[in-house]
Amino acid sequence: MQPTVKPKNLNFSSGPCSKRPGYDVRALQLDTLGRSHRSALGKKALGLACSETARILGLPETCRVGVVPGSDTGAVEMALWSLLGARGVDVLAWESFGSGWATDVVKQLKLADARVLKADYGAIVDLTQVNFDRDVVFTWNGTTSGVRVPNGDWIPAERAGLTICDATSAVFAMDLPWDKLDVVTFSWQKVLGGEGAHGMLILGPRAVERLESYTPPWPLPKVFRLTSAGKLSEGIFRGETINTPSMLCVADYLDALNWIESIGGVAGAIARSEANLRVIADFVAANEWISFLATDPATRSNTSVCLSVDLSAEQVKKMVKLLESEGVAYDIGSYKDAPAGIRIWCGATIETSDVAALMPWLAWAYAQVSA
Ligand SMILES: Cc1ncc(COP(=O)(O)O)c(C=O)c1O
Repeated sequence: MQPTVKPKNLNFSSGPCSKRPGYDVRALQLDTLGRSHRSALGKKALGLACSETARILGLPETCRVGVVPGSDTGAVEMALWSLLGARGVDVLAWESFGSGWATDVVKQLKLADARVLKADYGAIVDLTQVNFDRDVVFTWNGTTSGVRVPNGDWIPAERAGLTICDATSAVFAMDLPWDKLDVVTFSWQKVLGGEGAHGMLILGPRAVERLESYTPPWPLPKVFRLTSAGKLSEGIFRGETINTPSMLCVADYLDALNWIESIGGVAGAIARSEANLRVIADFVAANEWISFLATDPATRSNTSVCLSVDLSAEQVKKMVKLLESEGVAYDIGSYKDAPAGIRIWCGATIETSDVAALMPWLAWAYAQVSA
């Protein structure tokens, strides 16, 4: 039987992710538009993007938060190009984005002492094998496989190398051990439902120390440069961006941060995301034709939930198309490089009632396609 209730919001994409409930572009504070980003007004908005991020995330006072170009990719690559090469590096990869950072380190930076620890989609690398005397590059939540690190217990408080963490689909959705992460990056377009284009770069004191004591042997484009005459460019971490940002995206980000605060801050955002995951976990437990791609329940993502369906790749595509044409769900096919399956975003901007409304439709679409 075709279900009768549809999700009110069909946007289940894993990036850009759904706008927050009640979002209205007309409600953004747009007095910065058409003004210089270096005017007092522009700098104030950009400064708030940094300071409000730090306050709402509860970052240690020693952390610096900057807005950088190129979305999350820009922030990660800026860190890799600025920091690596001082010692050996372990790169951990278990899906597409982690593999991309491994390619950067091995094929682009061509670091001689690089070790890539790799696992297949659905699995995670053996975290006990990581050597923290070396720099460590990893993704907190693998968005394309729905596999996350279970926690930060595997990272020692005392370590010689730096930890560089792409946490774009984890910040505002998972508890992060900030004192164990020397570099954290994320973009506005994920958990907050913000816009692409700008990335957030969070530096702990050990990363700053590296920046001020080490100069990489390769050239650095201007958009990657975090230091000037051997000193950290502190202005970047007060909203003096390297180049011109979109003030419209900044206004949108400040709106998203306000919303996070209104739902109880990070704890509230995590609770919404976990409630969404629970709905899917209950559905998977009750239906044997669908399963989590993540094999270990401790590594199941509560944001990018990736599911395997007992169908051919062609049939899964049909299922995804059918759900779109029925006006039930958009963009829930797995990532282009990942195994065929379904991926449902479960971050805070998604209403649990919409995830619940989607579940019977999955069963219906499966029955249609497999018939
Ligand atoms: C884990 C991870 N890293 C990096 C990216 C790239 O993000 P952006 O397109 O914001 O640069 C994504 C986007 O989906 C991602 O999921």
